[in-house]
Amino acid sequence: MPLARFMELALYHPEHGYYTRADRPIGRAGDFYTSVSVGRLFGELLARRFATWLDRLAGPVQIVEAGAHDGRLAADLLVALDRIAPALRSRTEYWILEPLARRREGQVQTLAAWANRVRWFADWRDIAIPVQGVIFGNELLDAMPVHRWSWDAARGGWRAIGVGLDGDRFTWVPLARPGDGATHPEFPAELADVLPDGYVIETSPAAESWWHAAAKALQRGWLLAIDYGHDTPDRWSPARTGGTFRGYRGHRESPDPLAHPGEQDLTAHVDFGAIRRAGEQAGLQTEVFCSQEQFLTTVLSELSRDAAAMAAWSAPERRQLMTLLHPQHFGRAFRVLVQQR
Ligand SMILES: C[S@@+](CC[C@H](N)C(=O)[O-])C[C@H]1O[C@@H](n2cnc3c(N)ncnc32)[C@H](O)[C@@H]1O
Repeated sequence: MPLARFMELALYHPEHGYYTRADRPIGRAGDFYTSVSVGRLFGELLARRFATWLDRLAGPVQIVEAGAHDGRLAADLLVALDRIAPALRSRTEYWILEPLARRREGQVQTLAAWANRVRWFADWRDIAIPVQGVIFGNELLDAMPVHRWSWDAARGGWRAIGVGLDGDRFTWVPLARPGDGATHPEFPAELADVLPDGYVIETSPAAESWWHAAAKALQRGWLLAIDYGHDTPDRWSPARTGGTFRGYRGHRESPDPLAHPGEQDLTAHVDFGAIRRAGEQAGLQTEVFCSQEQFLTTVLSELSRDAAAMAAWSAPERRQLMTLLHPQHFGRAFRVLVQQR
């Protein structure tokens, strides 16, 4: 089967999928950290950026989150937003896009205190009115299914690689046909002469079409992704010949991402060039593509006018800030794409 189908089942199978199961916390007790699991400060910094944006729009506005997982970021954001921008409270709704019923149950519990301001939707088709405000996801796109390709230097073309069975082990196999909706990777033509045989790369039509749908749903406002990934030039690094598809278990990269489906997280770097094009094709303008460090530093530089707010941060919150900004933690590997209409 195509890798995208394998990922869909391993991550989102209604019973056995890694993200469907309730016993998969993110953070110290889980398999990986995200900026959300570092602490509540990430939510506060996003709330400050969103408040500046929402202030520029009149009338009812929405913050739409996808990939809300256990609802923790939504809670951190709502607490901070009410404190920082009380005037927005009466005209701001928080919407969560959550296709998994079990995840939604957990989010409803976490967000019980905001029951009258939070609404849930399974996907874009359920949202009848256009969004005016902010649509965003933290580490959403890297969790979407990818197709895998390997360069055939002799033929000068791409081979689709999927998942097969060898005895009772899952293993990589060439596919006679790429999976539904999969198209060959687009790449700079001059690379055709130099790409080494077997060079592996992934594509994610699922992430691109999600972003395109989000862009179309946005009538006025900002669409934002925070994730690890590459823009077109560094996507084709000669140093990385085996692709970026990975498994994580117990805070370690798994030696075999195809083993134990449902028991480990599966992920691949986001192709930000393709995501940016998907938004622009839906009429959005790209405002910023930068590191998380640069993005949060801009928020901090505006915040420095509010010295009392920064002085009120506790020692653990100051450490959270260092982790979010530090190039060897979340600062550099994580990128932020902001598009707007
Ligand atoms: C790596 S986790 C990130 C969770 C959280 N945003 C954080 O930063 O801690 C990815 C999340 O995206 C969710 N997800 C994947 N595809 C989605 C989709 N199409 N719509 C909404 N959520 C999705 C998964 O179920 C999972 O909860």
